[in-house]
Amino acid sequence: MYIVILAGGSGTRFWPLSRKKSPKQLMSVFGGKSMLQRTVERVLPLRPKRILVVTNALQAEETGRQLEYLHDVPIDIIAEPVGRNTAPAIGLAASIIAYHDPDGVMAVLPADHYIVNEEGFAQVLTQGKEAALNGYLVTLGITPTRPETGYGYIEAESELRGGGPYPVKRFVEKPNREKALEFLAAGNFYWNSGMFVWQACAILDKINECMPQLAASLAKLVFSDNIWELSDLKPQIESIYGEIGGESIDFGVMEKADNVQVIPADFGWSDVGSWSAIPEVVDADATGHVVINAKEVVSVDAADCLVYGDNRLVALVGVNDLIVVNTADAMLVCAKDRAQDVKKVVEELERRG
Ligand code: GDD
Ligand code: MG
Repeated sequence: MYIVILAGGSGTRFWPLSRKKSPKQLMSVFGGKSMLQRTVERVLPLRPKRILVVTNALQAEETGRQLEYLHDVPIDIIAEPVGRNTAPAIGLAASIIAYHDPDGVMAVLPADHYIVNEEGFAQVLTQGKEAALNGYLVTLGITPTRPETGYGYIEAESELRGGGPYPVKRFVEKPNREKALEFLAAGNFYWNSGMFVWQACAILDKINECMPQLAASLAKLVFSDNIWELSDLKPQIESIYGEIGGESIDFGVMEKADNVQVIPADFGWSDVGSWSAIPEVVDADATGHVVINAKEVVSVDAADCLVYGDNRLVALVGVNDLIVVNTADAMLVCAKDRAQDVKKVVEELERRG
């Protein structure tokens, strides 16, 4: 199996930990290894044929540096000159794999997700590979717990009861709240985890069908005999990215495809979309504080805060439900229920230049 890691996002809701040059996937959000390093290590038991990391040119150097220690693993870093969302990144990786091995199965994994049961995760990917070899576009479905409008929803033919894969009736990317509530109540809708398994040729066929302009641009790629000499592709990638538009694989392909399957994924998942997602995956202490990377926390009549400490001593007095993030050059203090608005800080900083 090939692994394609999407590592081009900017993660503005994780300010001040994530910055343009060091976004969430390159940071040690949970202490220790970065999210990208954890993503790569998580797939190593599957003995991938190659791992393709698609990232932005701005982050390519640091991405390479972080993965240097895995010198025995065949890892290729593909730098996009600009972000054009996930469809071009996936199409590019699929084109490279298909040139070499058209029937090769690729698992597409975001670089910034948190997974609790890594063995369970590897089992689901292996199961996904079997379905992918039958030509399906395989999604991993998460049982929804709230009417989230930032996710894609997968409608299965009936409620999933373990095992799988199961046929998918339709895929709806980022519904409005009314629809999300309806899906949640129905019982046979699952969140799209953003991880996919398919053959390189299968996704390229669908891109051809559903996104002909992207397909036409990708078809211009000329590979050298040693296709893993990806540096040869740099000027071509630059010219292709100059002509294609931005679109996600979810809107571009998944909503339109008719050969989608879903495997229930109950390995414990979070896309760590914002600071408020951390308490879903990290245990709280006795006072309800979730603490990462702090030297020590002193809590006086305080409870239920999220503290990112940058190895400092943090003291909390008489406060509840705060997010407190310390970094070397910036600090965030935010109400827990306003975590989504952290991206507005980044927007404001960009306005100030
Ligand atoms: N290389 C590259 N280039 N990677 C990108 C780009 C790009 O231009 N844009 C985004 N990515 C990476 C992000 O870093 C992330 O790891 C992944 O692709 C998904 O992109 P997001 O921008 O985070 O997508 P989303 O959260 O809006 O929605 C997707 O994920 C949800 C689950 O987390 C969709 O697949 C939804 O259907 C899904 O529910
Ligand atoms: Mg996301």
